[in-house]
Amino acid sequence: MAESVLLVGYMGSGKTKIGKKIAKKLSLDFYDLDSEIENEFSIPISKIFDKIGELSFRKIEKSKLEKILSFKKPFVLSVGGGTPCYFDNMRLMNEKVKYTIFLDVKPKILADRLFTRKSKRPLISKIQSIDEMTEYVSKHLFERYNYYKLAKFRVEPNLSNSKKTADKIIKLLK
Ligand code: S3P
Repeated sequence: MAESVLLVGYMGSGKTKIGKKIAKKLSLDFYDLDSEIENEFSIPISKIFDKIGELSFRKIEKSKLEKILSFKKPFVLSVGGGTPCYFDNMRLMNEKVKYTIFLDVKPKILADRLFTRKSKRPLISKIQSIDEMTEYVSKHLFERYNYYKLAKFRVEPNLSNSKKTADKIIKLLK
């Protein structure tokens, strides 16, 4: 029987796009944790942060994560950039999923990508300049790295070719 695959990594590291490609190639169900939450509440993540605050979001995120991790049918799951860094989520993900994979991208590359895609991301939506984004991402990623590196595998994705990255990840699965 196929095994599940779970992608972690900072915002903008390609988790959703690459996850979808892996799922398609392996004919597995695909879940994006943020989308699952948005669909359940019919409200964008940014509004959830505004209305109930980050800590309440983290509790919802955890319960949705637990639900998906309990599925019997194998899946590919892309989680949010903060998911591994709250509660015991990273331990739980490693316990339930054979292939937990950290998409490791350099902060400058992330900052450049995120600057044009910040509006839907409440943690960075108010950042005004590329220099400020680079500083924020560098510090934040440094703190989060301790969680991400607990994933069982680490891959440096090719962000201009998600198909190539998906193929590279599929080769790891044996
Ligand atoms: C977050 C990342 C987002 C989303 C929320 C918080 C984070 O997901 O869960 O905005 O704390 O890094 P993506 O990594 O898919 O952008």
